[in-house]
Amino acid sequence: MILGTGSTGKVGQQLVAALKAKGAAFKALARSEASLKALTAQGVEAVKGDLGDPVSLKAALQGVDKLFLLSSASHFDRLEIAAIEAAKAAGVKHIVKLSAQGVSADSSNPLFRAHARAERALEDSGLAYTILRPTFFQQNWVAFYSHAIKAGQPVYVNAGDGRLAWIDTRDIAAVAAAALTEPGHEGLIYDLTGPEALGYAEVTARLGKLLGREVMYVPVSDAAAFQAMQGMGLDAWYAYGMVTLNQGVRRGIAEPTTGTVELVTGAAPSTLDAFLEQNLEAFK
Ligand SMILES: NC(=O)c1ccc[n+]([C@@H]2O[C@H](COP(=O)([O-])OP(=O)(O)OC[C@H]3O[C@@H](n4cnc5c(N)ncnc54)[C@H](OP(=O)(O)O)[C@@H]3O)[C@@H](O)[C@H]2O)c1
Repeated sequence: MILGTGSTGKVGQQLVAALKAKGAAFKALARSEASLKALTAQGVEAVKGDLGDPVSLKAALQGVDKLFLLSSASHFDRLEIAAIEAAKAAGVKHIVKLSAQGVSADSSNPLFRAHARAERALEDSGLAYTILRPTFFQQNWVAFYSHAIKAGQPVYVNAGDGRLAWIDTRDIAAVAAAALTEPGHEGLIYDLTGPEALGYAEVTARLGKLLGREVMYVPVSDAAAFQAMQGMGLDAWYAYGMVTLNQGVRRGIAEPTTGTVELVTGAAPSTLDAFLEQNLEAFK
């Protein structure tokens, strides 16, 4: 039995779909009654629990042998390390952890260091593991920028003219589903990217063409991005993490593409153009 976390989010939703398509035995951890109901309505076995609540996590891990571990809160390494320990105590054999491209223990980016600490805890746990390190998600365009684009406002990011090899979370989910249901992925770290690196100006230009109107990208300073993110309610730890992520983008860390999605799944990763076309309504 597989337990999936983050099942209402950008990657987790797609993993639910991928595991359903494979007919795999899995259940999804849900934090709220509304998520529990929504998952159950899709025919998914859902179990109430929170990574920050050890009692609920212990109950959710009963009978589970494989865990998909994803979290997004501030200081998420604490949640993930506790979940790895709880999983080991519950008899879980293999954990597939969602991490991020470019993670390293000595990075100035607190998000990368948090992922590195959780990766290290997983490697040291003695459990079988697979670590997925994707680049920026294509789905960010809907989650983070569609609101501004719909309102005719520019997209403001401190990414300069850095290029990013945007990945579709469906491809991340396909790799996760393979790692959770097939042998041969133990002890491996997968760097996952889409097929083409595009800067924000190139993406907004392509989107503008599809929408038949101008969509603007305005590169902003690190300080302006930090202030804006704090204004949206992000704490300093998370906001600084996002700012340093985009400093990395300016240095080109998100530009390289890998063939790992195809290597694992047998299918080429989906393009950003296809994503924009399929999700055009979200920007109108
Ligand atoms: N966005 C990117 O471009 C990108 C790129 C590379 C790596 N990543 C990594 O991807 C991860 C985020 O994945 P995502 O974007 O798919 O997530 P997301 O869309 O932000 O959704 C977060 C999910 O985690 C659940 N969750 C949050 N806190 C939880 C808790 N305490 N206990 C149980 N569940 C909890 C949420 O449930 P609720 O519905 O209850 O809130 C939701 O299902 C992060 O680790 C990030 O570093 C992101």
